[in-house]
Amino acid sequence: MSGALAGRKAIVTGASRGIGRAIAERFAAEGATVALMSRNRDTLEKVAAGLPGAVVREADVVDADGFRDALGEVVAELGGVDVLVNNAGGNSFSMPLVATRFAGWEKTMRLNVDSIVHACQIVLPGMLSQRSGSIVNVSSVAALRGGPLMAHYAAAKAAVVSIGQSLAIECASSGVRVNTLVPGWIDTDLTDFLRAEAATEEAVLSRVPMQRWGRAEEIASAALFLAEDESSFMTGQSLIIDGGLSAMP
Ligand SMILES: NC(=O)c1ccc[n+]([C@@H]2O[C@H](COP(=O)([O-])OP(=O)(O)OC[C@H]3O[C@@H](n4cnc5c(N)ncnc54)[C@H](OP(=O)(O)O)[C@@H]3O)[C@@H](O)[C@H]2O)c1
Repeated sequence: MSGALAGRKAIVTGASRGIGRAIAERFAAEGATVALMSRNRDTLEKVAAGLPGAVVREADVVDADGFRDALGEVVAELGGVDVLVNNAGGNSFSMPLVATRFAGWEKTMRLNVDSIVHACQIVLPGMLSQRSGSIVNVSSVAALRGGPLMAHYAAAKAAVVSIGQSLAIECASSGVRVNTLVPGWIDTDLTDFLRAEAATEEAVLSRVPMQRWGRAEEIASAALFLAEDESSFMTGQSLIIDGGLSAMP
């Protein structure tokens, strides 16, 4: 198969829908063999049905031991990994920090931050041995400024940026690159609640210079760039895709 990722093997977490699904589909279209991971095997199998050679493995990234075991099995099944996309994540509540239950804070960290640490610890040793690989972590524009009512999520996504920088430096002389995607507001299930009322949607889009939601496919294009050799001298960087949101004063 031809394409920018021909012959490459990739793992994408959170690949059952939204941004992760778009990334998995784009990678497969570019010739990669893709392992799709999320909690829902049925949904993953439906996505995989359209992707030649795709591997499916269900795991909850919040369950550290189960996730690490599943990743180990996926690495063995693929026979090595060239690209790891740590995309699974999200935010399930809005709350002032002072009222946030610590269990909620911890769960947000386990979902968005710890999951990346686990995945890197399982997948990176093989990349370092083969002296090549690209890790793409998914952060958010929430990482760039204060996140009122979502300090937990903003802090978690800021940690994702920081981990990407540290890891990139640690791996730079070993042929493994680590970069971070920083999406703005994207039309996925995660942001459905913001489209439920016209006034809320208008308030969100009024801050976006391009005045529209981003599409998951637009994040997948950036993921492809970071995964493939076109970005071969790029590591430790954050790529912001937000319709101009973060450029606003
Ligand atoms: N949408 C946005 O506006 C936006 C903006 C900035 C950053 N992001 C980030 O982009 C990433 C993808 O977001 P999205 O908008 O595509 O969200 P989404 O549509 O809600 O999809 C989330 C994906 O992650 C998986 N997932 C969620 N919790 C999981 C868990 N505990 N274990 C394993 N898999 C889990 C889900 O699959 P299952 O339910 O099948 O497990 C699904 O495949 C997230 O890290 C998010 O924080 C999104």
